[in-house]
Amino acid sequence: MATIRKIGVLTSGGDAPGMNAAIRAVVRTALYHNLEVVGIRNGYQGLIEGDLFQMQSTDVSGILQRGGTILKTSRCPAFTTADGRAIAHRLILNSGIDGLVLLGGDGTFRGAGVFFDEYHIPAAGVPCTIDKDLIGTDTSIGFDTAVNTAVEAIDKIKDTAEAHNRIFVIEVMGRDAGYIALNSGLACGAEDILIPEAEERMDDVICNIDFNGRRHKNVHLIVVAEGNELGGGKAVLDSIKKQLPERDVRLCILGHIQRGGSPSQADRVLASRLGYGAVMALINGNTQVMAGMVNGNIVYTPFSQVVKGTTLIPEDMLAMMKALTG
Ligand code: F6P
Repeated sequence: MATIRKIGVLTSGGDAPGMNAAIRAVVRTALYHNLEVVGIRNGYQGLIEGDLFQMQSTDVSGILQRGGTILKTSRCPAFTTADGRAIAHRLILNSGIDGLVLLGGDGTFRGAGVFFDEYHIPAAGVPCTIDKDLIGTDTSIGFDTAVNTAVEAIDKIKDTAEAHNRIFVIEVMGRDAGYIALNSGLACGAEDILIPEAEERMDDVICNIDFNGRRHKNVHLIVVAEGNELGGGKAVLDSIKKQLPERDVRLCILGHIQRGGSPSQADRVLASRLGYGAVMALINGNTQVMAGMVNGNIVYTPFSQVVKGTTLIPEDMLAMMKALTG
C-alpha cells in the first residue's frame, strides 16, 4: 500500500450547499494526519490548466455555513478526452499529488474511474448533489438544503395561490430524479406531485383539479420534477390551460435558487462526516470509492457501482404520495 503524503481536492459538476463544509473537513482531516493539501480550482479543468494552490487550515476558516464552493466548479469536457486526462496526469506527477479527493456527483466519479484505469491515481469521493441520485448513500450533500429552500418557496406560493384561487405548477430541480419534488411536495401538502419514478397521466391531474373545484377547493399546487415524463412544468401548464381554459393557472420554475444558500445543519454534519471519511479512505489505502452514509454509518462504495444507476424511491413512499395528495 503506497503511503499518501499529498492530496489534491476538487469540486466538480453542479455545486451543492454543503460543498464548502466538505472541503473544510477534507483539508482539516488531512492536515490533522500530517498530509499536505492542494486545492484544485474549477474541478477537473484546474487539473488540466494547473490551477492549484497549497491549502492551510485558515483557508477553510469561516466557510462551513457558506453555499457554493470556494474551489469553484465546472463540468469539464476536456477531461472526457484521452489528451485532456494525459495533461492532468502530467500535472499531478509534477505537483507531487499522490491522492485525490473528489467532491461531486455521478459524472465526477465516472471521470475518476476512467482516469484511474489509465493512470492509477488513488482517489476517494464525497457525494455532493442536490439530486440525491447516487447509489451507495442514503442521501447526498445539498439535498436537504435544496428541499428546505423549495419548501420555503412553495409555502410562499401557496399564500398567493390561496388569495387568488389559483392553480400553481411549481417545477423543481432533480435532473432525472424526483426526490426534491417528492419531499417538497409532501412537506407542502401539494395536491399533485409529478415525478419520473411514478406513472404520471395528465388526465389524472385534470380529474383531480376538477374534483377539488367541485368541492370548492380552488387552490391546487402541482409540484413537478423537471425530469418528469410529461415534459416539465411548462408542458403541464400548457396542458391545464388547454383542458381547463376557465381556470387561472400560473407556472413557477424554482431553478437555481435550490442550489444556493447556507447549508442546513443536516448537510453541514453530513459533509463533515463524509469529507473526513474520504480522507480516511485514502490514508487506509481504500481507493476508488465514494464515502456514503448508509443507516447512519460511513460506507464505501466503488465508483464503478456508484455510477450504475439511481436509487429507488421506496414503494411505501409512492403509495403514501398517492394517499396524501389530491
Ligand atoms: O445536478 C444538479 C442540477 O442542479 C440538476 O438538478 C439540474 O438539472 C442541473 O444541475 C442544472 O445544471 P446547470 O446548472 O448546468 O444548468
